[in-house]
Amino acid sequence: MSLLALEEPSVGRIDSYRALVREFLVRGERPVPFVLDWPNADAAAFVERCAASARGEGLPEGFVPHSTFWIVEDRREVIGVSNLRHRLTDSLRVEGGHIGYGVRPSARRRGVASELLRQTLARAHALGITEALVTCASTNEASIRTILRNGGRFQDETYVEARGEAVQRYWVPAAATPSSLLPPSSPAPPASP
Ligand SMILES: CC(C)(COP(=O)(O)OP(=O)(O)OC[C@H]1O[C@@H](n2cnc3c(N)ncnc32)[C@H](O)[C@@H]1OP(=O)(O)O)[C@@H](O)C(=O)NCCC(=O)NCCS
Repeated sequence: MSLLALEEPSVGRIDSYRALVREFLVRGERPVPFVLDWPNADAAAFVERCAASARGEGLPEGFVPHSTFWIVEDRREVIGVSNLRHRLTDSLRVEGGHIGYGVRPSARRRGVASELLRQTLARAHALGITEALVTCASTNEASIRTILRNGGRFQDETYVEARGEAVQRYWVPAAATPSSLLPPSSPAPPASP
């Protein structure tokens, strides 16, 4: 099983992060979370923008402080990104919620999103959030399953005019030391003799 560690953005891993962003673009996918759209040619400026946003500095009107995390495999590749909003606004309550996440297309379907959300929920708990609102398009089966796998409780589904689609809302428990969610490929513990 590979090691998946949640890290703050860093200049040292910027090339791997850039490759992740490129994969979204090459496949014509909308980059998620939204910070994937931020310019990253100047690595130090990008990392500082992430850090400033977490401190609540330089935010656009209507934005709340938000933290960006990278999930790094085996201390090498950035294979997923999450964005944690420190509190909700009226707009985030409808769509966006506390946490957004995306996984590099070539790293999908092996439990990365489930682990990324799990570790981001622990960061949310550290901010005093005990239940995180997570929203997703009603057609996004992979995201719905990621939420459910983390104990998400369905709240409702509403049509969001701006997106032109129905969005589901879930409340997901955030714990300080979340129970382990082993990827499906993990070996079973040895049977007792
Ligand atoms: C949604 C996304 C994050 C899932 O990432 P992932 O690493 O492939 O997800 P996981 O491997 O952890 O799988 C989570 C669950 O979804 C299921 N799943 C994954 N991809 C799927 C797909 N294309 N269709 C149906 N189910 C899928 C898995 O089988 C798993 O279900 P299980 O726990 O019941 O076995 C990824 O597809 C992505 O980045 N999409 C674009 C951005 C996005 O939609 N983000 C979410 C915004 S709300």
